[in-house]
Amino acid sequence: SLASGTARLYRSGPSQGHGGGMTEPTIAQKAPYKVAVEAGKSYWWCACGKSAKQPFCDGSHKGTEFTPVKYDAEKTGDAWFCGCKHTAKTPMCDGTHKGL
Ligand code: FES
Ligand code: FES
Repeated sequence: SLASGTARLYRSGPSQGHGGGMTEPTIAQKAPYKVAVEAGKSYWWCACGKSAKQPFCDGSHKGTEFTPVKYDAEKTGDAWFCGCKHTAKTPMCDGTHKGL
């Protein structure tokens, strides 16, 4: 959050209108969400950032170019889902949020 001033400057312009490039996802929060997942269960991570049920999809991506990302839990325990939506290792946090 110390760098948020810089990040805001960089992101201040509209994200559309550059001729078909990827639209920026909405940053739900600049930190991961810790979720207790269960082995054998599937989870749908919100990629657009607009869901009210973070970090999971609630259908709010409709009308955007984003679709949720499925996560199949292999073991029961805590998982850290990306909240900033800028991770390179979807759907898990890879630390990218620190530079936003
Ligand atoms: Fe964000 Fe569905 S609400 S991907
Ligand atoms: Fe998105 Fe950490 S919360 S990379």
